Amino acid sequence: MKYRFPEEFVNRVREANDLAEIASEYMTLKKSGDRYLGLCPFHREDTPSFNISADKQLYHCFGCGAGGNVITFIMNIENLSFVDAVKMLADRCRMPIPEQGLQKGVSERYKTMGEVLKANVAAARYYAAALKTNKKAMQYLTGRGISEKIIRQFGLGYAPADGNSLTRHLAGSGFGLKILEKAGLVSPGKSGGTYERFRDRVMFPIIDVRGRVIGFGGRMLGDGKGAKYLNSPETPLFHKGSTLYGLNWAKKHIVNGELIVVEGYMDVISLHQHGIKNAVASLGTAFTQRQGETLKRYCTNVIVAYDSDAAGRAAALRGMDILQGMGCSVRILQLPEGKDPDDYVRHHGKEGFEELVSRAMPLVDYKIALLEKRYDLNERGGRMEYLKEAAGILAKLESELERAEYIKMVAHKAEVYEATLREEVLRLAKKEGRRGRNISGKNRHNNKNREFGYSVKTANVEAEKTLLVLMLKDKKLRRRLAKSLKSEDFTDRLHSELFEILGREGGAGEVKDADLVNAFDGQQDIDRVVTILQQGLPVSEEGIDKVISDCIHTITIYKIRKRSNFLKGEIERLALRGMERTGDEEEQYRGYCEEFMDIQRKLKGR
Ligand code: CTP
Ligand code: MN
Repeated sequence: MKYRFPEEFVNRVREANDLAEIASEYMTLKKSGDRYLGLCPFHREDTPSFNISADKQLYHCFGCGAGGNVITFIMNIENLSFVDAVKMLADRCRMPIPEQGLQKGVSERYKTMGEVLKANVAAARYYAAALKTNKKAMQYLTGRGISEKIIRQFGLGYAPADGNSLTRHLAGSGFGLKILEKAGLVSPGKSGGTYERFRDRVMFPIIDVRGRVIGFGGRMLGDGKGAKYLNSPETPLFHKGSTLYGLNWAKKHIVNGELIVVEGYMDVISLHQHGIKNAVASLGTAFTQRQGETLKRYCTNVIVAYDSDAAGRAAALRGMDILQGMGCSVRILQLPEGKDPDDYVRHHGKEGFEELVSRAMPLVDYKIALLEKRYDLNERGGRMEYLKEAAGILAKLESELERAEYIKMVAHKAEVYEATLREEVLRLAKKEGRRGRNISGKNRHNNKNREFGYSVKTANVEAEKTLLVLMLKDKKLRRRLAKSLKSEDFTDRLHSELFEILGREGGAGEVKDADLVNAFDGQQDIDRVVTILQQGLPVSEEGIDKVISDCIHTITIYKIRKRSNFLKGEIERLALRGMERTGDEEEQYRGYCEEFMDIQRKLKGR
């Protein structure tokens, strides 16, 4: 059985959730006509090939072949099962879930996610209310120059010091300790009881791109002992390594595809208050691959504004390489020693900070500048080390032009011949290239998953597809082809099933695109169906008759050839048995021979 929900319910959920609206919570989409275009969230790319058809409510990526409807979109992007995705979309538009579906379908994991989310929201409300009545915490925030409006917008709060008032308050609203524990709000104590994780801290709710409170960060008031910041532990909702604090706000303020990446909560908030609203925090310095993947969905230019000490650290640089490797243009903003974006924007205002943004250095320049600081270029040994490391950096550049430019610059600084350095860079690039190919080879392997099963394109399979496209585009053609073809004529399993659906009631039935998508189970099948749905007419109106007769001819010939091959095999087998043939076999043999001759005549006649 395919659905654990009634099909009618699934259809209503699908219709109630607009695909473009849902998708835009996860990525930046540009509208053009009744289509939306964006960078595909399912594979890495630099030019948008992911598109959504608003009237069909389907998406398709020309790059990787991913496709489907709003349900498959949620399944893939949230990594949920079909049932969990339907549940999520139903919740989103407040549709009650049918009882029977609830019991059997929704997974434990999904239920826990929902409960953790509810507990987080209740906790955030509680903390926010507690901040209003706590003078000390309020003074701490206003003392750092934060306005009440910003406190409200970012939902800032305060976790009381006593370590039990949240638990008591939430127990009153029906939240048990178990779920608070799963939400990371309380931890089991050593002596058997539980204790609250956040005590006497200013609270920063961490909100994901879709506006859900997934976790918290808490800062101690002032500069005492212990951890300055404490974050939620990993929970079913919160994964620090893939979270970017502030992205839910910043994504609405992206101009020229540009986002600023900072380290901390306060940097995001302070920049925002000063009118720089496109900043997100990586929550610490080690920028991860998964954060990069998230960021890449929204922007192409990244300005890294880490504290001056942190930006040069190896872990931070690796993070920037990740971004660059994904095709983002990365520039490093340089802050004065010991300052962070929060300090800087408070003292120099919006204009001051924007001035720094405009002077931010491309990543390569920045790395080379770091080397110049590290090595003494007046000394031979220093120059050699500098050259070696710089060559390594330049070897990784993709663009020949850029490479030539930097070779000139570095050679000049270290006072060597350009040609010498070029040779070294090329030697390293060759080595690098071998590695590079391996990496892209791996990617290709991943993509192949989607293509698997239909990479072999033979003429007859292509012809089948063309006929299906025609049936989809034109009702009259659908009726006509439904009469002249049979589902057995289609050798491809998926084509045959599609034909069966389209050909119902002699091709006169009502068939929606979305119904076709839903008739299939696996993602590979769905991708293929959507590819077919997206295909344009192969020719102009006038050429259609010719295309149809050509396609039918191709299919027929294929069928005949296949039959002829079968006959040939059988005839040979029976011929070998010679005199040992039974009466039945004798008759069969004659029949096969006759049919074979007949076919040969036909094939020649055409
Ligand atoms: N951080 C953390 N745990 C710590 C210290 C820092 O998770 N013990 C993360 C927090 O997300 C913090 C960010 O790293 O916002 C940057 O840390 P840091 O530069 O030390 O703090 P600031 O952002 O400057 O914080 P503040 O201005 O409040 O001192
Ligand atoms: Mn700071």
